[in-house]
Amino acid sequence: MLTIRKAELSDLRAVKAIDALLFGADSYPLFVLRQFYDITGDYLLVAETGGEVVGYMLSHLDHANTKGWLLSLGVLPAHRGKRIGEKLMAATLAQMEAKGVAVLYLTVHPNNVAGISIYTRLGFTVQEEVADYYLDQSPRLLMSRQVTL
Ligand SMILES: CC(C)(COP(=O)(O)OP(=O)(O)OC[C@H]1O[C@@H](n2cnc3c(N)ncnc32)[C@H](O)[C@@H]1OP(=O)(O)O)[C@@H](O)C(=O)NCCC(=O)NCCS
Repeated sequence: MLTIRKAELSDLRAVKAIDALLFGADSYPLFVLRQFYDITGDYLLVAETGGEVVGYMLSHLDHANTKGWLLSLGVLPAHRGKRIGEKLMAATLAQMEAKGVAVLYLTVHPNNVAGISIYTRLGFTVQEEVADYYLDQSPRLLMSRQVTL
């Protein structure tokens, strides 16, 4: 059975392992995950199945609760294609909706077919392509979705 739940402190090593596997040198250091846990832990979700954390999603919102940002999403390769990413996204969307967030933003590499597929399915549209978004000379699509009017 798949459970989507808020991350516990004890999940952070598993989240770090997934993040490191998927994003390599660009993964969050463990201490940064701990800092996220402290400041935005309600929006650090994990997907668990068979007692194993197989995916995670991190998001945050601005002080006025008007803009939300989907910051990171990852699912272990062995567990892909089962809509786990989509379920993590849907849980985050529900959290943002409950907070009254008006617009959600995210960025994704233009070649990330799997990511763009989920985001499009959940109603995100491309606002613009930014050439050097993370100051690393690789492009990102800025996507957004209206949540509440
Ligand atoms: C993006 C990601 C989270 C999707 O997770 P998922 O649980 O497999 O998502 P879904 O099952 O909803 O499938 C989404 C898309 O993944 C692709 N996919 C499906 N099965 C797959 C598999 N077995 N292996 C790899 N990709 C697969 C398809 O493009 C699918 O879209 P489609 O159903 O419209 O064809 C996952 O691929 C991942 O962790 N990728 C690396 C990290 C990343 O790119 N994160 C997003 C950064 S913006």
